[in-house]
Amino acid sequence: MTTIPARNSTREWQALDRAHVHPFTDHAALHKVGPRVIARAEGTYLYDSEGEKLLDAFAGLWCVNVGYGRKSIAEAAYKQILELPYYNTFFKTTHPPAAELSRTLVDMTPEHFTHVFYGQSGSDANDTIVRMVKSYWNLKKQPKKKTIISRINAYHGSTMVAASLGGMSYMHELADLPLPGFVHIRQPYWYGEAGDLNPQDFGRLCAKALEDKILELGAENVAAFIGEPIQGAGGVIIPPQNYWPEIQKICKKYEILLIADEVICGFGRTGYWFASEYYGIEADFMTLAKGITSGYIPLSAIMVSGRVAEVLTGMGDFAHGFTYSGHPVACAVAIENIRILKDEKLVERVHSETGPYLTKKMQEFLNHPLVGEVRNLGLMGAIELVKDKKTRQTFDPVGDAGTICRDHCFKLGLVMRATRDTMLISPPLTWTKADIDEWAGLAKQALDLTAKDLGVA
Ligand SMILES: Cc1ncc(COP(=O)(O)O)c(C=O)c1O
Repeated sequence: MTTIPARNSTREWQALDRAHVHPFTDHAALHKVGPRVIARAEGTYLYDSEGEKLLDAFAGLWCVNVGYGRKSIAEAAYKQILELPYYNTFFKTTHPPAAELSRTLVDMTPEHFTHVFYGQSGSDANDTIVRMVKSYWNLKKQPKKKTIISRINAYHGSTMVAASLGGMSYMHELADLPLPGFVHIRQPYWYGEAGDLNPQDFGRLCAKALEDKILELGAENVAAFIGEPIQGAGGVIIPPQNYWPEIQKICKKYEILLIADEVICGFGRTGYWFASEYYGIEADFMTLAKGITSGYIPLSAIMVSGRVAEVLTGMGDFAHGFTYSGHPVACAVAIENIRILKDEKLVERVHSETGPYLTKKMQEFLNHPLVGEVRNLGLMGAIELVKDKKTRQTFDPVGDAGTICRDHCFKLGLVMRATRDTMLISPPLTWTKADIDEWAGLAKQALDLTAKDLGVA
């Protein structure tokens, strides 16, 4: 059997890795230090090639919901590879894993979702949704309805269409985006942008931005609105409670399709199976990826509502699909992953035990001189680092404090992510109160060291 050669030097791997273009990486900076080589993982801990142990408070990239090292998932993949490693789902064909998973997803998602389409990533799923949205309005004989509204600072992936849906200006600059037909409105970022407004008034104002944009473009030209129930990569931005109900009303009023991108929020991250349940969102499409397989193998799924599916599946040939749509091994892994989430009652645990406990521990950071705000829903949270807590003044340049803190975390054996100067946490859903205590101790040390570096007392 071929295995990855057991090299015994981090330097050897780093040298080989110079042939690798990394995602979201400044390569000049990378080559100065060389990449950290993560060699293995178990439970909630990563081990690098130097044997150092790191507490992963980010579940890989918001995805390893059941934690690392699950033998039953490996066995499900192994068994499926021997049984049927590949077959496509084109041309009137299916296989047991795709059929089983489809039924499971329809049963576990909000009731109005009746159909599912598979991809490999959140990006290609969102790309596919755009295609479905356009087809839908063509079939409804409203071919002018084509513009899609999203939000500044949203993240929906990295293909040309998904990055156009996203509202990250630095991603747009890279490749002349957004493509025509994608526009962006303000985000519901209360702490950063509300000024003196209370959350309710700010929520209403941000939702009204959607109505204003629809009226500006003409409802007859607007196809859909897309949003992450809670923005993840943008900084765990938890909208005011009235925001989503208002958005839902506006979409209904102007006949705009609603897309809930649950790539991060789905599969229990917020203490609900899907954050749409928490906010009462009744979307036409729901994007799923990451937690669907806990990242063990690539898979994404698009949930389609009954009323949209009826139109799309009644149109003759749906001329769209990927070689790996509904890949049997990925579907088998997803089925086992969902079994674990259910049998171990991980979502319930996040909802009633570890989510509230994380809230409590995060609140303690509010006394820290660097911390302006903390927020979380379930095991998805953010700590805002500011120069002045009273005025919410940010550091200049924005981003340095976050980078300093993230680097301290690494040195202390903790993985957290920084977006601007906001520290983000999104651990495996297997975390216990003891794991949260361990995290809180390390995070406090990192905050203290960061405050010292920045001269904040
Ligand atoms: C909300 C959201 N949508 C889509 C994506 C893109 O998923 P992928 O990286 O699998 O293409 C991400 C990735 O982080 C995401 O957070």
